[in-house]
Amino acid sequence: MRTDRDRWDLATSVGATATMVAAQRALAASREFALIDDPFAAPLVRAVGMDVYIRLVDGRIPVEEDSELDPERMAQGMACRTRFYDQFFLDAGRSGIGQAVILACGLDARAYRLPWLKGTVVYEVDMPEVIEFKTSTLSGLGAEPTAQRRTVAVDLRDDWAAALQEAGFDSQIPSAWSAEGLLLYLPQDAQDALFDNITALSAPSSRLAFEYVPDTAIFADERWRSHHDRMSELGFDIDFNDLVYHCQRGHLIDHLSRQGWQPSSNTISELHQANGFEYPDDELAAVFADITYISAVLGR
Ligand SMILES: C[S@@+](CC[C@H](N)C(=O)[O-])C[C@H]1O[C@@H](n2cnc3c(N)ncnc32)[C@H](O)[C@@H]1O
Repeated sequence: MRTDRDRWDLATSVGATATMVAAQRALAASREFALIDDPFAAPLVRAVGMDVYIRLVDGRIPVEEDSELDPERMAQGMACRTRFYDQFFLDAGRSGIGQAVILACGLDARAYRLPWLKGTVVYEVDMPEVIEFKTSTLSGLGAEPTAQRRTVAVDLRDDWAAALQEAGFDSQIPSAWSAEGLLLYLPQDAQDALFDNITALSAPSSRLAFEYVPDTAIFADERWRSHHDRMSELGFDIDFNDLVYHCQRGHLIDHLSRQGWQPSSNTISELHQANGFEYPDDELAAVFADITYISAVLGR
């Protein structure tokens, strides 16, 4: 269960979801699958030290034939998501945008692996424990950022906009913003303030990308609960139903449009198709079929 001032590291509470996602990226990037290129995902997961994710990355989770717990399925889903955001930042760079903000960066290593436009400044924003761990682990691995990386260690329920500006963010030039895997973990007021702040800090032609989950009731859905129970038996004990804020999110896209953003969206199934994969046709996949990937350009 969440509280207003809760904190975490990469092995606890919301922080562990960043490790889970990184483990899925490591699978997608492993030689067997090689759907994306992220050489840092596996070493970061190992450094966190959560046994279940190390076993996942090492291929030591027993897999039942045709089960929903198929590493290839996880790899494909995460490859779609990773490519969506990679492409978003690369397109922004091609249009001349040289300032990026990765909100809730977790163990995402884009600041170290994307071919950023020369001179690009990338701000990475997350909880202090998350930022410190990633920075020191990647430095220990000898990794060098491929852009000017600036970290902003702050709780996104606090005044993160001030912290970002203190770190040097320039609201007079266009930016590319991502909120990958974030919104569900914010209470409604913090989520709405997040977008109001992004809009206030965005010069015309700025861009924004995030996934939109219209209904968090999916995590209480019986079909998800039975999947969760099977996962728990294997040691995957993150319970999203306890970590997400169940609140109204339906107004979000209209709200952004009213503020001058021009959003376009892709369903999760369309993204699978665009990447040459087939979105699974089973009960679990049906629970998540309404998730869309949004990218928006500020037109004012
Ligand atoms: C599912 S992970 C996604 C991480 C990363 N974007 C990725 O896709 O690999 C959720 C991330 O949101 C961050 N997060 C959630 N709520 C936050 C808050 N209130 N302040 C700062 N970071 C937060 C967590 O620390 C975690 O890194």
